[in-house]
Amino acid sequence: MFQRSSALFLVLVPLLVHAAQYCSLKPSSGISTSASGGIQNSGDATDGSDVIASAWYPGWLAADFPPASLSWDKYNAMTFAFATTTSDVSMIALDDTSAQALPEFVAAAQSNGVPALLSIGGWTGSMYYSTAVATADNRTAFVAAVLGLVSKYDLDGIDFDWEYPGRTTGLSCNTMNPDDSANFLSFLQELRGTPGGENLVLTAAVGITPFYGPDGEPMDDVSQFANVLDRIALMVYDVWGSWSPTVGPNAPLNDSCAPPARQDGSAVSAVNAWTSANFPSNQACYIDMICPITLGVAAYGHSFRVAPSAAVTGTNSLALYPTYDASAQPVGSADTPGDTSLDPCGTPNGVSGIFTFGGLISGGFLDSNGTAADGILSVFDSCSQTPYVYNSTSQVMVSYDDADSFAAKGRFINDQGLLGFAVWDVTGDQNDILLDSLHQAMGIQPVCE
Ligand SMILES: *[C@@H]1O[C@H](CO)[C@@H](O)[C@H](O)[C@H]1NC(C)=O
Ligand SMILES: *[C@@H]1O[C@H](CO)[C@@H](O)[C@H](O)[C@H]1NC(C)=O
Ligand SMILES: *[C@@H]1O[C@H](CO)[C@@H](O)[C@H](O)[C@H]1NC(C)=O
Ligand SMILES: *[C@@H]1O[C@H](CO)[C@@H](O)[C@H](O)[C@H]1NC(C)=O
Repeated sequence: MFQRSSALFLVLVPLLVHAAQYCSLKPSSGISTSASGGIQNSGDATDGSDVIASAWYPGWLAADFPPASLSWDKYNAMTFAFATTTSDVSMIALDDTSAQALPEFVAAAQSNGVPALLSIGGWTGSMYYSTAVATADNRTAFVAAVLGLVSKYDLDGIDFDWEYPGRTTGLSCNTMNPDDSANFLSFLQELRGTPGGENLVLTAAVGITPFYGPDGEPMDDVSQFANVLDRIALMVYDVWGSWSPTVGPNAPLNDSCAPPARQDGSAVSAVNAWTSANFPSNQACYIDMICPITLGVAAYGHSFRVAPSAAVTGTNSLALYPTYDASAQPVGSADTPGDTSLDPCGTPNGVSGIFTFGGLISGGFLDSNGTAADGILSVFDSCSQTPYVYNSTSQVMVSYDDADSFAAKGRFINDQGLLGFAVWDVTGDQNDILLDSLHQAMGIQPVCE
């Protein structure tokens, strides 16, 4: 598994500080993390191997971001997005670009000692999750389909990114069943119990509230999921965006300090909600207990068209929840101008307005070091611990995460005893400004030997 192909070796060596077999993440010496910090929780403070530093790799961007170009030494898990559910439960689909990129991704990951996971689902790929797990026969067929992918692509694990079991808030044409969450659990239990499934890394990307039950409410007790999943990643982003009534923070660390009407969820609320629903079963992530929760962190932001009269308050400061013009959605760095593609329901995808962190730099909002550029107004919201930037000429406002936001999230991960982080997505950063800040705040660094 750790054998390196000679071609990859030539590409990778210049990226590593020391000519390395492979790297692992260790506590950095001299870093003071909080007394209840994540590393100390492990019961083995000399080894950072229980910290999860992970990200999703968007397979559709493989041409611009080849797998060999990633900072593999700074991660210890990487998840390829996405394979998609189909109307035939025995078939999990990979589009042509992904099918081509996945083997290269797995080879690059494994040659760096990083487990390679494949994520099934995502916003547009979850349409048939509900039917895939609906009956005992379908679950058995779906287990076989998953294990087929694992063996075909030599995967180390599978990430289930079902958006969302038991809810109608996903893509409009997703299949849905009130028993989705119970069926999902039965499926995971069967997968774990099937030869080839026992030792897979199984993860789930989840919303800011626990899985929904048959009553249409978040479940009170999701502890059984913790018995079959290695970990969950809380997708604490897209909390505010082009669907929201006003501008707001994309990925709030906290919202209990926000005005009551603006408390739409945050890392704080998500960790509270999942641990209160017994994930893991002891309700909190204390010393000697590795909490199998990673914090999903956003290397991107959402843009809004905001008139200067609404955007600017006082002397060149910015309002946190201004109204915006939904009919003039700015084109983000992640958008293809003039995109006429349709989502799987046949609805035009339209303009997402998403700017990656790197896209904010190339778009002139930020300097190359990741701070607001000359002529760009900015504000840092002390509650969400995230910044906004605003170009008053183009009237584009973006709420996003910067190095300070990632540092605050890193401290939160340690303070809460969370397992680590999962970045959406690995291509959004620029020169690892965000990733390095997160590592530093968590007190981890790559050690290559
Ligand atoms: C089981 O899967 C098949 C597709 O392979 C689907 O047609 C059928 O509706 C599924 N069963 C349920 C109850 O959803
Ligand atoms: C979140 O905000 C509440 C209310 O102001 C505060 O008590 C709490 O310490 C904050 N938590 C974090 C992690 O910032
Ligand atoms: C602000 O937007 C205008 C209009 O798109 C553009 O010409 C200008 O360069 C932008 N300002 C900065 C600092 O990027
Ligand atoms: C980033 O660049 C700006 C201007 O180019 C400078 O004022 C600021 O000090 C720099 N910040 C860091 C952290 O280097």
